[in-house]
Amino acid sequence: MRFVVKISILLVLVCSFAMYSVHLYTDTKLLKKSTRLTDAAFEGKMIWQQNNCQSCHQFYGLGGYLGPDLTNVYSTKDKGTGYIGIMVQNGSITMPAYKMSKTEIEKVTEFLRCMDETGKADPRTFKATETGNITREDEQ
Ligand code: HEC
Repeated sequence: MRFVVKISILLVLVCSFAMYSVHLYTDTKLLKKSTRLTDAAFEGKMIWQQNNCQSCHQFYGLGGYLGPDLTNVYSTKDKGTGYIGIMVQNGSITMPAYKMSKTEIEKVTEFLRCMDETGKADPRTFKATETGNITREDEQ
């Protein structure tokens, strides 16, 4: 008898796990947010990798920590396209200047625009739901 109870509990837990997994991986709202790079953004990503920007910068908190997280630099008020171009071209005291061509800068900026579209990286903008998932302000 005790064996039957144990097996039932195990089955309930396994089923719950399976249902929760299916729910998470088929959430269309989340799937829509997965990265879709345009052709220019893909080339921008190559430039990003060749210049090792990630060694100092992060996306969603992952990367090097000398420079700031760039996930949402594109949509941040008073930053965006022109600002990104100026930073990459001229650098600052702590960031090296990259003498890139106008098209290269446009491609890197397009890459940062696509990354920005994937969501908000600042955990202070997240809210926990009753199920323990996280919603972000841009999804409400
Ligand atoms: C050696 C480290 C380093 C590398 C490599 C680097 N950066 Fe930076 N970056 C920084 C630092 C540090 C800052 C902050 C500078 C400041 O505020 O004076 C910064 C700032 C920026 C900013 C402005 C961010 C903001 O929120 O104000 C952008 C955009 C940027 N970097 C893009 C790039 C790109 C694109 C590359 C690669 C081509 C790159 N960085 C490579 C260190 C780096």
